[in-house]
Amino acid sequence: MLNLYKTLRKQLLVAIEKTIQDIAPSPQSSGRALDPQLVAASKPEFGDFQVNIALSLAKELKQSPHGIAMRIVENLNIDQDFSALCNAPQIAGPGFINLRIKNQCLVAEIQARIKDKRLGVPLINSETPDAITPTVVVDFSSPNIAKEMHVGHLRSTIIGDSLARVLEFRGYSVLRINHVGDWGTQFGMLITHLKEVAPEALETANAVDLGDLVTFYREAKQRFDTDAVFQTTSRDEVVKLQRGDPLAKKAWELLCEQSRQEFKKIYDYLDVKLSERGESFYNPYLQNVVDDLNKKGMLVTDEGAKCVFLDGMYGKSGKPLPIIIQKSNGGFNYATTDLAALRYRFATPPEGDGACRLIYVTDAGQSNHFQGVFQVAKLANWIPKASRVEHVPFGLVQGEDGKKLKTRSGDTIRLRDLLDEAIDRAEADLRRRLKEESREETEVFITRVSKAVGLAAVKYADLSQNRVTNYQFSFDRMLSLQGNTAPYLLYALVRIAGISRKGGSLDIQGSSLEFKEPQEWALIRELLRFDETIAEVEEELLPNRLCNYLFELSQVFNRFYDQVPVLKASQPYRDSRLALCRLTADTLKLGMSLLGLPILERM
Ligand code: ARG
Repeated sequence: MLNLYKTLRKQLLVAIEKTIQDIAPSPQSSGRALDPQLVAASKPEFGDFQVNIALSLAKELKQSPHGIAMRIVENLNIDQDFSALCNAPQIAGPGFINLRIKNQCLVAEIQARIKDKRLGVPLINSETPDAITPTVVVDFSSPNIAKEMHVGHLRSTIIGDSLARVLEFRGYSVLRINHVGDWGTQFGMLITHLKEVAPEALETANAVDLGDLVTFYREAKQRFDTDAVFQTTSRDEVVKLQRGDPLAKKAWELLCEQSRQEFKKIYDYLDVKLSERGESFYNPYLQNVVDDLNKKGMLVTDEGAKCVFLDGMYGKSGKPLPIIIQKSNGGFNYATTDLAALRYRFATPPEGDGACRLIYVTDAGQSNHFQGVFQVAKLANWIPKASRVEHVPFGLVQGEDGKKLKTRSGDTIRLRDLLDEAIDRAEADLRRRLKEESREETEVFITRVSKAVGLAAVKYADLSQNRVTNYQFSFDRMLSLQGNTAPYLLYALVRIAGISRKGGSLDIQGSSLEFKEPQEWALIRELLRFDETIAEVEEELLPNRLCNYLFELSQVFNRFYDQVPVLKASQPYRDSRLALCRLTADTLKLGMSLLGLPILERM
């Protein structure tokens, strides 16, 4: 109902302005920025919206809030457009004005939605079609080469993908950037170690499994931490790589390619699209970062390292924390790469991405890193006016015992295994249900449904939590048909698809709709909240808002469907109710697709 909200707000501003002039005419007070304090009603009994401004005007106008509210209402009532939109306003408590949208306006909104594929969500440039499409960078997933992707990367992938989908749907040009860790000391160690233990891996593609590579990496890391000679050789190897030594470069490319193939399997599985642009991409821009900060007088040399010291950033010992831009050996840091990346992303094409908003999706453990990077960028004037940089942090994935997620034997869980297990469990559930209901289904059906349910369950369990908190991974909970789960939403969709299988055509034009039951009005109001939900996700980058909305919608729909006859109703109620079923299905499908969830008509 965002459009209705906006119209109401305008009408209110006129009425409030007039009220102020009526009570205390003064030339200065007119034309100032007023906020009518128009919010959603706190309870459905009160109507749709509530206006709170009378209370804050009382002091200035030296009148009771109630008196002011009465005047505002009088002035609203003169406005014919307002009277067409709302029932007579009610004043409640000390001076709140309660507003209820007229039934016929709600019906008109529903009719408009039935014809609108976007379900009331405008495109960003719908009012200025000639404007250029703004670009948003979503930096997400971003695993590290030669290491296995872990559940933290899974969270980043799932959350980042849904944010990207919402922004794409709004019409932004979204760059889905996979900022993979493909540079730095880890390669020096790995190459040095592989030269000894598995030289074939450095010369032939896929000579060893990624699993083995991960083991080799672990071994290399251990040697690096304990063996001084190994350390020096590894460092030399990094330098060789950075200087473009062809052998080192070839080995590096092979290692990257191998990881890439493995990552791709997961992305395909999850149906997530990403463009890889790893840390190495920014190598040519690193020196500029140092030079520019130096020119701006922001660099301090501390024990040979070039650093920026920021106000208010302190380490554990209480000493000011430096952001190291260039190490004493000349090497660059994770933060340097991120500064170069930030500049590149804001720079105008073709030298950059020309983005107006940068979104970084990583675990909350990197919050300090990003706050530091953003602060340096701000001080250096690298963040253009009217653009935004945001870190989207998320909590840890924990097992049901509240500890870090591990396998029974205590190893960290491989992502692929986790997804496979969700699918296996979904399949077992499905087979059990089929048996109970004596239903026959083909193996193709069982495979397809299990995969969709399993993946949807994992994704939804993650997205439906407020991302900032840690979240407990529980297969039982996420696969349950009860509660705020993907299977529950899918089931609501399946129910609606069932209506059309039973002969109710959902192909409704909606020209003559009529409603009379409270469950219908509740569903209508819920359906009309879709657009504001999307606007919230776009602003706050919290996918759980959309999950909660879809869950509430399914609940309100189920109540309607359980209590109000649809197929057995007489006309025009039958078609009107079918229209609500159809719109519920459309809203669920669109909402779920924006979360990156697969959709089923039968399960
Ligand atoms: N590779 C990093 C990690 O695995 C995440 C990178 C996030 N993106 C960024 N621009 N720093 O933790």
